[in-house]
Amino acid sequence: MAKVAVILGSLWGDEGKGKIVDHLAEQADVIARFGGGSNAGHTISLNGEEYKLRLIPSGILYSDKLCVIGNGVVLDPQCIIEEMDALKARGVDVSNIKISNRAHVVLPYHKLFDNLSEENRGAKKIGTTGRGISPCYIDRDDRIGIRVCDFIDKEEFAARLKDVLAQKNLILEKIYNQAPLDYEKVLREYESYAERLKPYVCDTITLLNEQMDAGKKILFEGAQATMLDIDYGTYPYVTASHPVSGGVCVGAGVAPKKIDAVVGVVKAYCTRVGEGPFPTEQLNEIGEKLRSVGHEYGTVTGRARRTGWLDACIVKYAGQISGMDYMAVTRLDILDSFEEIKLCVGYKLNGEIINEVPASLKTYAQVEPIYESFSGWKSEISGIREYGKLPANAKKYLERLAEVTGIKLGIVSVGPNRDQTIVVENIF
Ligand code: IMP
Repeated sequence: MAKVAVILGSLWGDEGKGKIVDHLAEQADVIARFGGGSNAGHTISLNGEEYKLRLIPSGILYSDKLCVIGNGVVLDPQCIIEEMDALKARGVDVSNIKISNRAHVVLPYHKLFDNLSEENRGAKKIGTTGRGISPCYIDRDDRIGIRVCDFIDKEEFAARLKDVLAQKNLILEKIYNQAPLDYEKVLREYESYAERLKPYVCDTITLLNEQMDAGKKILFEGAQATMLDIDYGTYPYVTASHPVSGGVCVGAGVAPKKIDAVVGVVKAYCTRVGEGPFPTEQLNEIGEKLRSVGHEYGTVTGRARRTGWLDACIVKYAGQISGMDYMAVTRLDILDSFEEIKLCVGYKLNGEIINEVPASLKTYAQVEPIYESFSGWKSEISGIREYGKLPANAKKYLERLAEVTGIKLGIVSVGPNRDQTIVVENIF
């Protein structure tokens, strides 16, 4: 049984990772994030109440777990403080949050540039969440980012902010014709955030490795998903981080050989937000039904999600990249009322079957999905707790998915609540 497990999105995000993390978190000692930032939006339902999280690991709803924000995360101080305050107001203890001293800080100019560059792209916009994610990673790679260790050092932060803001204001004024940001104002506001966050900051690399050495169970919680990975996704319609298992190594300081189980979360149908190709998209009444029955609207942005049939080619690709051992299939109940369910099991390009996910978006936009059709089960499955009790048609669909992707079924989720979970194989 695994000691260190990773949960990842296998499609374009919004697969319901929060619920699966929450389920596995019960058995873990530490829950850690390793990439992305407040662009993530996890919804967890607990005792009929909904909790929406962006930066804080989903394990926070258990009082005895360490919740780590690793070095690969871009930390928006304003956002995490709001999130902590909202949780505290609902009686959730947030004292177990640990923030990496090496994480990079999202500052007001990152959010400004995110929105300005989207406006500038016009019709070619990426459809970002506007949270400053990519501009913050750009600054990290350009070596002008501000890390948490410098952010909580008053003198260091004041000096670094002065230098960076001078550069950013030049771009704002000369390129975008915008008013510059006021140094003193930004400094005051962000100094106060730094003071509040200081008690939570530590060297999370040492912390995580010590926990692993002590035999503790660690759960790495992926945000976004494989098809949004900066290298493996549908570039440029991607996020700026690595939401794949390799991202854990560079985003948390954990060696690859320490990871012993990788779980890919797969929604029973497909959705995506923002622009970019989506071979199985259903721009018809099927897509509309998936959206309305599944309430497919963004947690962070409220945008209507694009919807379509599940694409097993993508899941297989995600499995190869991350070495997925198990699938956690979510939202199977959303398909309860469908007469027919389709699964994309291959791609054709110019009449020929292809064995890869094309890199070129031009090519990817031309692929034709090869569908297999399944009869719907036409019954409510949200009360089922044992795999064997699922309707035969539901099992046929799931088993074919496992066969095409080469990934074992680990979990099947049949509703938003903690208990609406069927464990096919124990992961921890
Ligand atoms: P960014 O991460 O805000 O730069 O956005 C880049 C792309 O990733 C856009 O298409 C976003 O809609 C998408 N994206 C980012 N985070 C998520 C997520 O958590 N779920 C789904 N899509 C996301």
